[in-house]
Amino acid sequence: MSELNNIALKISSNGKGILAADESTSTMTKRLQSVGVESSSESRLKFRHTLFSSESMKKCIGGVILYDETIRQLYNSKNIPEIILATGALPGIKVDTGAKILANSSEEKITEGLDGLRERLKEYYKLGARFTKWRGVYIISKNYPSELAKTSNAHALARYSALAQECGMVPIVEPEVLMDGNHTAEDCMSITADVLKKCFDELIQSKIDLKGIVLKPNMILPGSNSKQKISTQEIAEMTLECLKKNVPKDVPSVAFLSGGQSEEEATKNLNTISKINNTNFSMTFSYGRALQQSALKYWSKNQDDIEGTQKIFDHRANMCSLASKGKWTEDIEKK
Ligand code: G3H
Repeated sequence: MSELNNIALKISSNGKGILAADESTSTMTKRLQSVGVESSSESRLKFRHTLFSSESMKKCIGGVILYDETIRQLYNSKNIPEIILATGALPGIKVDTGAKILANSSEEKITEGLDGLRERLKEYYKLGARFTKWRGVYIISKNYPSELAKTSNAHALARYSALAQECGMVPIVEPEVLMDGNHTAEDCMSITADVLKKCFDELIQSKIDLKGIVLKPNMILPGSNSKQKISTQEIAEMTLECLKKNVPKDVPSVAFLSGGQSEEEATKNLNTISKINNTNFSMTFSYGRALQQSALKYWSKNQDDIEGTQKIFDHRANMCSLASKGKWTEDIEKK
């Protein structure tokens, strides 16, 4: 097995998943302000270090995606990548520089960050990162996503992946079809299928070693403003069908984003997907909000209660880990 394949499996299989703690400073500021906490490099570090030093890191978390600020920070004279490595998880890094307006299709976005990427990747490797993340976003509405948005983002994801692998790091390939809107799950499925197909066409053309990537897709869900009600069984079946048809078999694992689902919804849906899993892919989580929300809420009122915050995070991480094995139940959730 290649080193990249080893890393991909280490961060996303055997009951382990990925903690996405890579919110940019402006996103993290919004998250902190929403719970009444002032955002500063100290407060961002304090909350994140509380998570990184939790008990569940050893059993449930295979990798942590960091933001540029965090990978350079020290806590009690130890650098953050070292602290993560000591738990058995691998440090990773978000390397895109954000989604900007796409010229000639101004309601859509293209993810930037390719200029100077090779040099940045080399530095991140030296700082301890062994995997990377790049997120392309796609909106669903009457006329979108456009062909332009689909091909431009797929091309950027492929160029990023090639550079990450060249530098010895696993690329997490994240084409996120957003939940916003009133579309049906069927719309989400056909658009996600097309987005995935275009991404893999570009990845293959760029000669990416598919065994050395992790795919981070959205689940197939009705839009957040849609009136459609579908069961977790239907969500799982549609998600699996879409992945089976559009993701090459060489890809070792799929780590879903939570994308605005509640903690419990994201856990329950992953659990049903893993239970049915009729694909070759290992299925797990790469959650940001669905791992951190409750812990952040508690921490905002009890910033010195590290243990209390960690207990909440540990519970969430344990639930997601069980879900990745199809072993989560509502009873265990409530305990
Ligand atoms: O790029 C998105 C994040 O890594 C995952 O965040 O689970 O809150 O959607 P989310």
